[in-house]
Amino acid sequence: MSSILKARINGTGYAVPEKILTNTDLEKIVDTSDEWIRTRTGIEQRHIAEPHESNSDFGATAAKIAIENAGLQPEEIGLIIVATITPDMVFPATACLIQEKLGLSNAGTVDIESACSGFIYGLSMARQYVATGEYEHVLVIASELLSRITDWEDRTTCVLFGDGAGAAVISGTNEGESDILATDLGGNGAFGNILYMPSGGSSKPACHETVDAREHTIRMNGQEVFKHAVNTMRSSVERTLEKAGVQPSELKAVIPHQANRRIIDSLRKYLDLPEQKVYVNVHNYGNTSAASIAIALAEMIENGGLERGDLVALCAFGGGLTWGAALCRY
Ligand code: ACO
Repeated sequence: MSSILKARINGTGYAVPEKILTNTDLEKIVDTSDEWIRTRTGIEQRHIAEPHESNSDFGATAAKIAIENAGLQPEEIGLIIVATITPDMVFPATACLIQEKLGLSNAGTVDIESACSGFIYGLSMARQYVATGEYEHVLVIASELLSRITDWEDRTTCVLFGDGAGAAVISGTNEGESDILATDLGGNGAFGNILYMPSGGSSKPACHETVDAREHTIRMNGQEVFKHAVNTMRSSVERTLEKAGVQPSELKAVIPHQANRRIIDSLRKYLDLPEQKVYVNVHNYGNTSAASIAIALAEMIENGGLERGDLVALCAFGGGLTWGAALCRY
């Protein structure tokens, strides 16, 4: 390995369940209203997997599209990174299950569990692997079925989440500039208790009591999360811009984690950006955790919202707490 290679965002893709759950549908399940959900979150609908559909199904579909858009064959992928907090099962890793669905048998496989920041963590890792020449093509998939860990009797959380997957192929090249100019990753375990799932891990395995107490679902202190979300995303974006010597005004777009329209608007004001520069699709998908930025990036590219050479900042925060940002020249 003689020199550091450049990381290319070679292809992207996304896949979401066909089934849509609207706010009006939710009014029939819990004591809520379309008006409350829209004004507090900006969410209008979310996609929800059918019982027979799995996280790895959507991850594999998004991956196939990304590989095709990259002009590669699946067997050219050297490493599969899957960001998820809703794996098909504790093990094997969802990366192994997706690998099998892609018809591969030799690529490296690893899951990462950085909650909503997972796609940014995955991009950062892929960038390092291709930069050293360790792998030529790394597949980063972010895939979630949050509907499976949602308490459908808790109106304070069940209106927020949705299912879906996004993927990107990151490739190493000697030519041109890197598409990933800078990344920033952070975490603070001291705030783990504001967003978590109490049971199902080895410290509190599933038993009748944990099921009766509905402990296999998301617990969240919404207002605390809100506060940290805006601060961490803002400072993370600022650090990546600083590392790369780029001014906010040079950005074509910011793609923030799609958790809540009000969080996105606060971030936009702090960064002093006009509305049209901040990508929003939370109204269509709700919060899909790790998948949210991966879906948004692929959707924006598909719709022609980004052209080669455009500067785009991705930023996320999530359970852990974790946060991160990536400054890319698409
Ligand atoms: N429908 C109707 N009323 C509701 C609902 C609902 N779905 N949920 C809560 N309420 C009620 C509350 O019970 C409360 O009633 P009360 O005043 O009688 O006690 C009232 O609405 C206000 O509740 P708040 O919690 O103060 O509402 P807030 O304005 O803070 O909005 C929200 C709640 C939307 C959760 C907000 O705090 C938020 O967006 N936080 C960030 C959450 C987030 O982004 N989480 C995910 C991030 S991490 C990840 O992506 C996994």
